[in-house]
This record gives sequence, structure tokens and C-alpha cells, in this order.
Amino acid sequence: METSIVGTGYVGLVTGVGLASIGHKVICVDIDAKKVEKINKGESPIYEKRLEELLKKALQKKLFIATTDLNYAVLNSQITFIAVPTPSKKNNDIDLSYMKKVSAQIGSALLNKKEYHIIVVKSTVAPETTLKVVLPLIEKYSKKKTGSGFGLCMNPEFLREGNAVDDFMRPDRIVIGEIDKQSGDNLAKVYKNFETDIIRTSLSNAEMIKYTNNALLATLISFSNEIANISEKIPGANAFEIFKGVYLDKRLNPVINGKRVNPQILSYLYPGCGFGGSCFPKDVKALVAFSNKKKYKPVLLSAVLDINKKQPLRLVKLTEQKIGNLKNKNIAVLGLAFKPETDDVRESPAIAIIKELVAKKANVFTYDPVVNAKNTHLHFKNFPFDHAQSLHQAVKNKDACLIVTNWKEFEKLTPEFIKSNMANHLFIDGRGFFHNKESEKINYLGIGLGNKKGASKES
Ligand code: UGA
Repeated sequence: METSIVGTGYVGLVTGVGLASIGHKVICVDIDAKKVEKINKGESPIYEKRLEELLKKALQKKLFIATTDLNYAVLNSQITFIAVPTPSKKNNDIDLSYMKKVSAQIGSALLNKKEYHIIVVKSTVAPETTLKVVLPLIEKYSKKKTGSGFGLCMNPEFLREGNAVDDFMRPDRIVIGEIDKQSGDNLAKVYKNFETDIIRTSLSNAEMIKYTNNALLATLISFSNEIANISEKIPGANAFEIFKGVYLDKRLNPVINGKRVNPQILSYLYPGCGFGGSCFPKDVKALVAFSNKKKYKPVLLSAVLDINKKQPLRLVKLTEQKIGNLKNKNIAVLGLAFKPETDDVRESPAIAIIKELVAKKANVFTYDPVVNAKNTHLHFKNFPFDHAQSLHQAVKNKDACLIVTNWKEFEKLTPEFIKSNMANHLFIDGRGFFHNKESEKINYLGIGLGNKKGASKES
């Protein structure tokens, strides 16, 4: 099928390259001419496993091009996906300005098109946005009605950064929200070769499925962190061991043919220094804002955000607990990306940690295996710190080393390795690296671990 995609960010580019890889013809549109040029040369503007390789193949097979010309893209395709950003506004509502602009532009392009066209909202939007914001704009500018002139769908994405290509190629489900059956049938054709469950539902249900999914995972994380924070008050407690006992509940981890299934959901029930990224924080905030507008106070989701806001700062508190006043202390922050396998630092717990350390007048040194110094300073403007080129350089001669991202590289910091190479180092563990017995041999404190004397002083 001939498809066009507006927006070559994370979702747009992965979807475009993914669709081209399974044989669809794809035209990607972006207002950024430099980015378009780069993409057409086969260079991916983002770091994502296999993306560049598949982009190059799709370009060679002439199944993919990028352009700045939205009109051309709409006129030369049967279906247009909207994958533009929907960032948070100051009041936590989502900013629909790109969505509105693009809906109007697609409508104007359709004015000159005789054939029926499908528009699909792929960006994450609050319930009712597709029906109450996108639809009226397309109708106004195209002077057409759904059903005859165009069709409308909402098709949320479930792509994890770092696994986005794989998640696209092997989706656990495809959700098709449709204004009418004809629209849904047409979108289903795009996905006809995927062997997975396809859910056909209303536009608002599709929008809400996306928010609910992210809100559930974020809730599990904040729940784990709350249990970890309580555990820290119990002398000698270990939240990781506590959770081990919980994971084995057969409703979480069923035994099938004598074997544990070990579902991936358990990886969201793991204490740490909080969730970040461009999705969980923004989507939960948006759902809270939406709910408040509808005059329902979402107490649980507000608590999820509240716990998550404070969680990174617990690492700083643990550091103070061990070494006192942080003024002029040399502190290494290990890991800047919001999670491993990405160079994305948006809403990363590292930001809150660095801000707090700088406010307390500590000398901050950072290290990340992928996020480079240039990226770093771009995102952490006005926060003075040094960026180390290697893990070794970062941890050398520091008063404390804070582990913020669970990068594979940090796994080499085993208790044995630390004991023989960095015996005097203090580690503050934000990701559960040192939760086993061996760790007793090293100098560390961690999230979810009750210290020997029991409760820490702070709340
Ligand atoms: C998330 C969802 O997992 C995707 O399904 C969804 O499509 C995407 O948001 C989106 O809305 O676009 P992503 O933000 O890439 O994907 O990240 P995850 O791998 O789900 O992790 C999110 C955050 O939770 C990370 O900061 C991670 O470190 C944190 N996390 C995860 C924890 O703090 N604890 C855990 O136990 C698990």
C-alpha cells in the first residue's frame, strides 16, 4: 500500500522504515529540510538498533523517500499517518499545536484529491482528540466528510526506545480505533501480514488504551519504589529479596508445563531511582490533567507522579547519609540516559540528581557509555559538571559514585571487582546492582536496602 507519514521523529521514522521493510511504499514528511536530507542519504537522525540498516535497504529498494512536501505526500499515497510530537504544556495538558497544524494541512491537500484517503493518528493524544480536534479540522479544510471523502483512525504505538524496530516488526497487538468500519478495514490492510491480535475499537478507546498501558507500567514502577522506600526503614531489609518472593505468585508468574513463564511485566516491578523518557512522565501527567478537567480527581495516578518526582533525590539523600554535607565533594553520576540502549536523556532521573547535587555545591562528574558530552551539555544547560570519557576516569578519586542508569557496562562493577580494584570507593546504587550477599564486602548504600542500623532519618 502507498503510505505517507508526517513527522520523522522516533515514532514516525520507525513506523515509516518498518512499513517499507515489509513492502509498503512510504513517503515520510518533515518540516526540517536538513533532517530530510540526512534521512534520504540513509543516515538515521536517532540512535536505534537496526534502524539505519533498514533505512538504507528501503532507500535502495526505492520503497522509501523523505520530503518536506506534505501536499505531495498526501496526493501520492492512500493513507497518511500523523506522527508529530504532542509535548506537555506547563499545565500538563498536551500541546496539540503540531497536531492541529498538520490536520489542517492534510485537509487542504485533500481538497485537491478525488480518491478516498485514510488519515491515521499515531501520536499519543488524550481521549476525544481525534474526534473533536483532528476530524473537524480535516473536514473544514478538505470540505469533505468522513465516510465518503476520507476515513479516520487512531492507531497508537507501543514502541520502546532501544527496541523500537523489533517492537514494530513483532507487535504484541495492533490497536485500530476507527470512526467507521471502512476506515478500519483499510488500515487493517496495512497490517495484514502481522501475526498478532488486532483490536478494532472506537477512536476514544484506542486513545485511552495507549494512556492506560503507560499509566499501568508507571504505576508498577512507583509501587516498587514505594515498597523499596518502606523497606529502607527496616534494619537489614532488602526490597529485591522481598520482590523475589512476590514475583513467584502464580498470578504474576504462572507455571506452564512445569516451567516458570517469567513475564516481562516483572521488569517493571523492580525498585530503582524512577522512570523517565519521553512517554511515561508526559502520558501520566496528561491523563491526570485530562481526568481533572473531567472533574475526576485521579488520586492514584497523582501519587505515581509524586513518588517518581522524589525518587531520584533519594540517591542524593543516601549519599548525604554516608558522607554528610556535599559541599565541594567530588561526586560521579554514572548513567545519563533515561534507560540503557538509548542516548535519550529526556526526563532522565539523572537530570534531577545533577540539579540537586549542583544545588548542594558538590563537584559533579558524569559518565555515560552512549550519551556524549555535547548532548549532555545541551540538555543540562546551566549545570556545571565535567563529563568523563571512561567509567574508570569517572569513578577515580571520587567521594561517591552514584549509579543512575542500568547500563550493561556497569555490570563490571561487581563486588569482587570493586573489592580488588576500588576498595575505598563509595557506591550509591540506584538500580539494584548490589543487592546480593556479596555486596556486603563493599562500601555502598542502595535504594531499597535497609541499613544495618535501620531507618534512615529522612522521610
Ligand atoms: C514506554 C512503553 O514501554 C512503550 O510501550 C510505549 O510505546 C512508549 O513508552 C511510548 O509511549 O512511546 P519507553 O519510554 O521507551 O517505552 O521505556 P520503557 O522501557 O518502558 O521504560 C520507561 C522508564 O521506566 C525508564 O526510565 C526505565 O528506566 C524505567 N523503569 C522501567 C524503572 O524505573 N523501573 C523498572 O522496573 C522498569
